[in-house]
Amino acid sequence: GFGISSLLSTSGYVTLDPGFTNTASCTSAITYIDGDQGILRYRGYPIADLAEKSTFLEVSYLLIYGELPSATQLEDFTTRIQRHTLLHEDFKRFFDGFPRDAHPMPVLSAAVSALGTFYPDSTSIRDHDQVELATVRLLAKLPTIAAYAYKKSVGQPFLYPDNSLGLVENFLRMTFGFPAEPYDVDPVLAKALDLLFILHADHEQNCSTSTVRLVGSGQANLFASVSAGIHALSGPLHGGANSAVLEMLEEIKNSPDGPDTFMNKVKNREGGVRLMGFGHRVYKNYDPRAAIIKKTADDILRGLGVNDPLLDIALRLEEIALNDDYFIERKLYPNVDFYTGLIYKAMGFPTKMFTVLFALGRLPGWIAQWREMTEDKQTKIGRPRQVYIGAPERPYLGISER
Ligand code: ACO
Repeated sequence: GFGISSLLSTSGYVTLDPGFTNTASCTSAITYIDGDQGILRYRGYPIADLAEKSTFLEVSYLLIYGELPSATQLEDFTTRIQRHTLLHEDFKRFFDGFPRDAHPMPVLSAAVSALGTFYPDSTSIRDHDQVELATVRLLAKLPTIAAYAYKKSVGQPFLYPDNSLGLVENFLRMTFGFPAEPYDVDPVLAKALDLLFILHADHEQNCSTSTVRLVGSGQANLFASVSAGIHALSGPLHGGANSAVLEMLEEIKNSPDGPDTFMNKVKNREGGVRLMGFGHRVYKNYDPRAAIIKKTADDILRGLGVNDPLLDIALRLEEIALNDDYFIERKLYPNVDFYTGLIYKAMGFPTKMFTVLFALGRLPGWIAQWREMTEDKQTKIGRPRQVYIGAPERPYLGISER
C-alpha cells in the first residue's frame, strides 16, 4: 500500500518484526542463551554452576565487570555496597505520599526515579566515577527501598540497615524485623533467596532489559533507565507472571473444578486464560532456571517446614502439560516464574512483593547491560522504524463540514 511504498522511497527496505521475534537490537558479551538446548550462561559460566557455587554479590560483580572477583575485589565491592545501604533521611517521607495499600512495584520504580534527584552527583553517563557510584548506590539501596515499600504496605515502622549483615540477610531483616528487636536471619531462607536472585540476575534482551537499554540509548541516566525497566518488568507476561502464577494456583484451589478442568479452559482459550508461568519466547525445550528451582523448591519448602497444597496443584498442572499435545506442539514448558511464587510465599512474602523480588534479582543485569551499551562506541539511539498503514494525505475539513 501507500504506507510501505512511501517508506521505501525515502529509506529503502524496512523489516517488520512485531515483538522482535527475530531481530537483534545489539551485540552483547554478558549472557548466552541457547533456547533449543535450554542453556543459560553468564559471562560463559553455566547457570547451574553459579547457582551451586556462587553468591548473588559475586554474580553481580561478574555480570557488571566481566570476571568473577578475587577475594580482595569481592571484599572491596561488598564494603562499598555496605556503605551505601542507607537512604537519605528525607527520602523516607517519599513513601508517605502513597496510599497504604499501594502496590510495591510502582513505588519501587518511582523511588528509583527519585534517587536521581537525591544523588545528582551520580547521574552523569560519561563520567566513569559517577557511573560507578550510581551502580553501587543502586545495588545498595534497592533492597532498602524494597523493604520500605513492604513496611509501608503493612503499616510497620522502617528499620535502618544493619551493615554487619550481608545484602540478602539485611534485606530480610529490614523486611520482616522490628526496630529494637533482635531478628535472627534463617540461613535456609537467606540461602534460598540468594539462589533465586542469582537465577534472575540477567537474561539478555528480555522486555525490561531492552527497555533499560532503549531508555539509556537516549542518554538518560542509570536511575531513569532502571526505573523504566522496573515498570517494564511489572506486566503479567514478564516479571508479573510470578504473582499471577500464585493467584492462578489459589483460584484453582478455591474452585470446585480441579487442575484438569482448568487446563481444558486454557486449551479452549476460555476468556483468554493462559497457563501462567508457562512458555517462553526463547526457551523451546525447558527453562534451565525452572529446572533448578523445581529441584530446590521441594528442599526449600521442607527446610522451612511448609507443606503447601498449591505445590501439589502446580506439580499436577506441569504433569498434564508435559503429556498434552497442546503444550507439546507449542513447546510450552515451565519458565522461571512457575515455582518461584511458592517459595516466596513459604518465605512469608505477600503475593504483591513477588515481582519486587524479581527486580532485586534482575538489577545487576540491568546495570551491566546499560553499562555495556553506554561504553559501546557503536551505540546509537534506539529508534525502531514502522510500517505506516493509516490514511493517505487528505484535505482538512473545518468543523462545520465534518
Ligand atoms: N498458556 C497457554 N498457551 C500459551 C501460553 C501459555 N502460558 N504461552 C503461549 N501459548 C500459546 C499461544 O496461545 C500461541 O498459540 P497459537 O500459536 O495457537 O496462537 C503459542 O503458544 C505461542 O505463543 P506466543 O504468545 O506467540 O509466544 P510468545 O513467545 O510471544 O510469548 C510468553 C511468550 C509471553 C512468555 C507466553 O508464553 C506467555 O504469555 N506465558 C505466560 C506468562 C508468563 O509466564 N510469562 C513469564 C515469561 S518468563 C519471564 O518473563 C520471566
